[in-house]
Amino acid sequence: MGNNEYWNEKFVNRSDNPLRPEKSLVDNIRYFKKGTVLDIACGDGRNALFLLEKCFSVTGIDFSSKALERLNLFGKRKGYLINTMQIDLDSPNPLKNIGFFDNIVINHYRLNKQQLADIERHLTSDGILFVSGFGHKHKVDSKIKEEDLIQPTDFENIEKSFELVNYTEFQDERGFFVTYIFCNRKI
Ligand SMILES: C[S@@+](CC[C@H](N)C(=O)[O-])C[C@H]1O[C@@H](n2cnc3c(N)ncnc32)[C@H](O)[C@@H]1O
Repeated sequence: MGNNEYWNEKFVNRSDNPLRPEKSLVDNIRYFKKGTVLDIACGDGRNALFLLEKCFSVTGIDFSSKALERLNLFGKRKGYLINTMQIDLDSPNPLKNIGFFDNIVINHYRLNKQQLADIERHLTSDGILFVSGFGHKHKVDSKIKEEDLIQPTDFENIEKSFELVNYTEFQDERGFFVTYIFCNRKI
């Protein structure tokens, strides 16, 4: 997945405009609960910006200061209020003081099973967890490694309290993509 330096350099070298939001997020926005969104490993915010446009209140977290600088700049240009926090998800208890959200987005970042289970503590009742990215059948290469691929077994620890409300997969010349949408049924 790359360290902080790798990602900072990547974001510094990007063009002056955000990328387009993830298609599966756009296609599935109807599942989202009105209110707040936590965008985990938000990068420079292509999805956060889309969610702001859709009137969600968005918090974006990432360990790359350069990504967050860009997201804040893009947000400012549009007049959006966005909350960003620099957090290393590999640090102990990274979401400790983050609070509760109506939706959590994890796009092209793979949390481990324990981290996914911890998510439950940060979603309101009936809150939506959206996870999307390269899936189990994606061909690994020097950029995308086996450990970056979302596996169906990733969700074993959350199955008791989360209901899978939608699953989609598709393949194109870029690879094999999966999207899981869960609803937090724990009261
Ligand atoms: C492939 S990008 C995805 C960005 C965004 N979610 C999107 O879909 O455009 C992966 C992101 O994960 C962030 N990242 C990688 N390791 C991280 C870590 N340990 N803690 C926080 N963010 C991390 C990177 O800075 C980068 O923004």
